Amino acid sequence: MAQEAIEEVRGWLAEAPHIAVLTGAGMSAESGIATFRDALTGLWARFDPQRLASPEGFAADPALVWDWYASRRAGVMAAKPNAGHRALADFERRHPGRLHVVTQNVDDLHQRAGSENVIRLHGDILEDRWFDACRRHARGGNVCDPSWAEPGSPPACADCGNRVRPGVVWFGEALPVAALEAAEQLARRCAVMLVIGTSGAVHPAAGLAYTARRAGAKVVIVNPQLSELDPLALRRLQGTAAALLPLLLAEEPLAA
Ligand code: APR
Repeated sequence: MAQEAIEEVRGWLAEAPHIAVLTGAGMSAESGIATFRDALTGLWARFDPQRLASPEGFAADPALVWDWYASRRAGVMAAKPNAGHRALADFERRHPGRLHVVTQNVDDLHQRAGSENVIRLHGDILEDRWFDACRRHARGGNVCDPSWAEPGSPPACADCGNRVRPGVVWFGEALPVAALEAAEQLARRCAVMLVIGTSGAVHPAAGLAYTARRAGAKVVIVNPQLSELDPLALRRLQGTAAALLPLLLAEEPLAA
C-alpha cells in the first residue's frame, strides 16, 4: 500500500471533526470469524442463508437454526479483537466524541476492544429473544424473560412453548429503527466515512455510504477485494482491517 495514500487519508482523519466508521464481516475476519460472501470460506458459500438466517427458516427447523447459531456464538466467544478493533477503540479514547462505529457485525469485538460509541445495525448474536410475542404477557401477565426458558435446541418457555431465538436481524426483518436513524444522522454529519470490510451487498446498511457521500463526506474504503461501494470512494485502500487501521489511526507520525 502506497505510503502516500495512507498519509493522505491520515491527513483527512486528523482534520475531521467527525468520523463515521461503517464495518462489516471483514473487520472480524482476522479474529477468526468467517465472513459471509467470501467465495470459499464465506458462510453463505457453505450454508443456505434463507434456511438459516430467516424467520421462515427458524419456523421450519428451529433446532437446525439454533444449533448453527450456537456454534457461531462459541466462535465469537473464543475470538479476540484484532489490531483493527483496538486501533478504533484507541482513537476513540484519545479523541472523545470524534469517532463513531456503525457495525453490521453481530459479534461484540468492537465493544470488547473498548469502543463505546458503537451502533449495532444487525443485532447481537450473544443476545436471546423470544421468537413469538410472550403469550403470558398477552394474557395480562408480565413478559417472560428468555433466560427463564427450559434448556433445549432451541430453549423454550415451559408455560407456553414459546421458543428462544438469537437477537440478530434476519433476512426479511427490519433493522432496529433507533439504531438506523442514529446511523443515518452520523452518516450525514461525518467529514470522513471509513468503510471497513464490507461487500456493500446488503441494504440499508450499505446505503449509509451513499448518504455520507451525498452529504459531502470523504469516503475511504479498506478492503483487500473490490466491493460494491468502490464507486463512492475518494480513496480505496487495498488491504486488511488489522494491517491498515493501526497505520491510519496512529497518533505518532508513521516511519518513513
Ligand atoms: N479486512 C478487511 N476486509 C476484509 C478482510 C479483512 N481482513 N477479509 C475480507 N474482507 C472483505 C471481503 O473482501 C468482503 O468485501 O470483507 C467483505 C465481507 O463481505 P460480506 O461477507 O458480504 O460481509 P458483510 O458486508 O458484512 O455482509 C453484510 O450481510 O449476510 C448479511 O447480515 C449479514 O451483516 C451481514 C451483511
